[in-house]
Amino acid sequence: MAGEPAQRLFFALWPDPAVRAALAALSARVKLRQGRWVRPENLHVTLVFLGAADARQRACIEAAADAVRGQAVSIALDRAGWWRRPQVLWVGSSATPEPLLDLARQLQAGCEGCGFPREARAFQVHATLARKVFAEPPAFDFGPIPWRVAEFALVESTLTPAGSEYHVLRTWPLGG
Ligand code: 2AM
Repeated sequence: MAGEPAQRLFFALWPDPAVRAALAALSARVKLRQGRWVRPENLHVTLVFLGAADARQRACIEAAADAVRGQAVSIALDRAGWWRRPQVLWVGSSATPEPLLDLARQLQAGCEGCGFPREARAFQVHATLARKVFAEPPAFDFGPIPWRVAEFALVESTLTPAGSEYHVLRTWPLGG
């Protein structure tokens, strides 16, 4: 729609309350010398980051998501990692089921069809726990966090003086 402001959008796996609580508990337990913890309500796994999208583009990606054929899967968040360049501490999965990789591929292709650039990096399950972690943090142990992934979400990111706020706009169930 003309004049409608663009929204900042991404597709994500949105943790259920138990998974979110487990991730938040882990964040509260780990000590970092520097970095900024992601607020518990913001914790998620990004599937496809889109960035600014106008109403027409949003309708296009929602139609693409409608066409996705996905399968519910069980994963375990069982490993932590640190990436030097984005300076993030994350937890992820040592084994990503094929249906989840396929879901990311289908969404990526659908978004590409709506004019969004293809993500150069392969999808890797990761929930960012902390940002601005400039140096590799010491290793820490934690028990696997089981997660039944049964839906995916379209999320809007809004920048506020207090940081990013995420708002789930729509969810799509995964079959199986
Ligand atoms: P990250 O957690 O690995 O940093 C919302 O901004 C989400 O989209 C973040 O979780 C971020 O992943 C992901 N993302 C991927 N590419 C991005 C980009 N170019 N700019 C901002 N966020 C991006």
